Amino acid sequence: MEILSSLRISETTLATLVLVLLFSIPTQAQEYILSKQKPTQHALSVSQIGKASKMINPYDSILEFLNSSSFPNRTSFSHDFLFGTGTSALQIEGGLHEGGRGLGIWDEIIKQNKGLYLDAAKFPSKIEHYKRYKEDVQHLKKLGINSYRMSISWSRVLPDGTLKGGINQEGINFYNNLINELLENGIEPFVGIMHADYPLALNQKLGGFSNRSIVKHYKDYSELLFKTYGDRVKHWITVNEIEVTSLFTFMLSRDPLSTDQACQNTKICTQVYTVFHNLLISHATTSELYRTKFQTVQRGEIGLSLSSGRYVPYSSKSEDVVAAQRLMDFYWGWVLDPIFHGDYPKIMKKIVGNRLPKFTEKEKHILKGSTDFIGVNYYTSHFARHEPNRTNVMFDNYDALAVSEVFNAEGKTLGYKDQYSMDYVYPEGLYNVLIYIKKKYNNPKIYITENGITSTKIPNPLKDEHRTAYIAAHINATKAAIDDGVNVQGYFVWSTFDTFEFQMGYSAHWGLYHIDFNDSLKRIPTDAAKWYTKYLTCDLGH
Ligand SMILES: *[C@@H]1O[C@H](CO)[C@@H](O)[C@H](O)[C@H]1NC(C)=O
Ligand SMILES: *[C@@H]1O[C@H](CO)[C@@H](O)[C@H](O)[C@H]1NC(C)=O
Ligand SMILES: *[C@@H]1O[C@H](CO)[C@@H](O)[C@H](O)[C@H]1NC(C)=O
Ligand SMILES: *[C@@H]1O[C@H](CO)[C@@H](O)[C@H](O)[C@H]1NC(C)=O
Ligand SMILES: *[C@@H]1O[C@H](CO)[C@@H](O)[C@H](O)[C@H]1NC(C)=O
Ligand SMILES: *[C@@H]1O[C@H](CO)[C@@H](O)[C@H](O)[C@H]1NC(C)=O
Repeated sequence: MEILSSLRISETTLATLVLVLLFSIPTQAQEYILSKQKPTQHALSVSQIGKASKMINPYDSILEFLNSSSFPNRTSFSHDFLFGTGTSALQIEGGLHEGGRGLGIWDEIIKQNKGLYLDAAKFPSKIEHYKRYKEDVQHLKKLGINSYRMSISWSRVLPDGTLKGGINQEGINFYNNLINELLENGIEPFVGIMHADYPLALNQKLGGFSNRSIVKHYKDYSELLFKTYGDRVKHWITVNEIEVTSLFTFMLSRDPLSTDQACQNTKICTQVYTVFHNLLISHATTSELYRTKFQTVQRGEIGLSLSSGRYVPYSSKSEDVVAAQRLMDFYWGWVLDPIFHGDYPKIMKKIVGNRLPKFTEKEKHILKGSTDFIGVNYYTSHFARHEPNRTNVMFDNYDALAVSEVFNAEGKTLGYKDQYSMDYVYPEGLYNVLIYIKKKYNNPKIYITENGITSTKIPNPLKDEHRTAYIAAHINATKAAIDDGVNVQGYFVWSTFDTFEFQMGYSAHWGLYHIDFNDSLKRIPTDAAKWYTKYLTCDLGH
């Protein structure tokens, strides 16, 4: 059974595991690694799982609450509020060699490191969304969502990444068909231009995002998408989680793409900041292009998504209070300060010094206000502990001189530990993040572009009450933030289907639709999916 595969990761494997990239689940990644430090904490045996399921669920009170009239129902959100679910091309399409697609960087990374990825054999076909998109849109329709967050595979439309290398008409047609199918079924596409993957050829030719000249190719690719799909796509996400991409590939792991691997020993990394800078400039350049050439006619919006949690001081000592703000600056501020204020946070400039690239006046100009909305990917939150010795910073930005912790000085946690995943459930963290962004960045429009929980250790993946509780509690937190003046316009559950989650393969079970790999990849709605549908169709019976 897939569901036990996470248990197959023995302590030895964990100890030698090289963290490559866990897009969309950075906090899970942190806890995954934290399990190295505190092995007994997560090393549940099968018999313990049996016992755990008989325990009183910490989320029982939430389940009761969502049957009560004080739970905010669908109609307490505006009619045009987007309620959706998300996926990414890389994690569901499959068909790597079909329809003229070129190779992406992930095809190469997995090929070179098969042993590090659970279910690596399933990587090439994944859940065959490429073949089964029509059926999948019907599943989306049954869910009752009014918007679907998807992404386009750059390698499928431009196989070698460049216009000069040629447009792949079959790839263009695939997304035309998918977008049309969604619209015909009353679902608005919310489209990611780049989500984790890009053409391998650009990496081989230029060194990927380490090389500033990739910006031009990213811009050409985006322009092709605006021209081709912009008449129908009204929400664009330029890049997903540029901070996670940069940190995990170029600081925290010995990823094959990084040419700065020694920095894991010295803890003085440089490439991470260059790659991040080029990703940010790519975002701003494309955003400017959309605004000047397309937006007036197409009347859509463009923004970007990032992922983090709320950092809460580890103790009341002033050094921990300052450390918590530092982590907010190093995660949220790294992306949002340049976009809203035209420069990196002061504290980053001070600590990182000349390893942090500088923006030219022209760049500052195109960056400032380069987003119509912020996409917030939220999973959980952490305590922040001051750590002056960078040698001891393992899984956070080394330069932040602070460490994220699950337990605070008094041994308390943020929220409750979910028994079927590795996460602590802390919806208050989402509320606090939303309020933080409102105050710090002058109340921008926000979409919650990812929020969800795994069913890693669950005996029956279809019985995912814990996920219902998780989603409901975060919808409740979202509503509380809206009531307090935050401009949230949408909420997307991650993920629609079980997705290929990098090292964890399919063991994590993120999907509202469970995929049965023993039965022709059948898509089966879980109990949480059924609850979400009832919620969205106002059929909860109160
Ligand atoms: C699925 O197939 C695998 C391998 O054939 C088997 O080990 C596993 O028990 C099966 N799972 C289910 C749910 O039938
Ligand atoms: C729902 O939100 C309200 C308002 O913030 C909060 O007081 C309450 O604790 C939340 N309930 C749950 C179950 O999260
Ligand atoms: C909530 O209501 C549903 C029916 O709408 C019921 O099946 C379920 O048992 C109730 N849950 C709780 C915790 O009261
Ligand atoms: C939804 O909640 C509002 C109060 O927020 C209430 O007036 C309305 O009757 C509820 N609608 C349904 C269908 O339960
Ligand atoms: C960066 O890209 C240019 C082509 O635009 C290429 O000439 C140069 O060699 C690349 N630099 C590196 C370090 O790969
Ligand atoms: C920093 O930590 C490392 C390893 O934990 C230790 O060897 C080193 O002496 C420490 N440096 C300082 C300045 O305390």
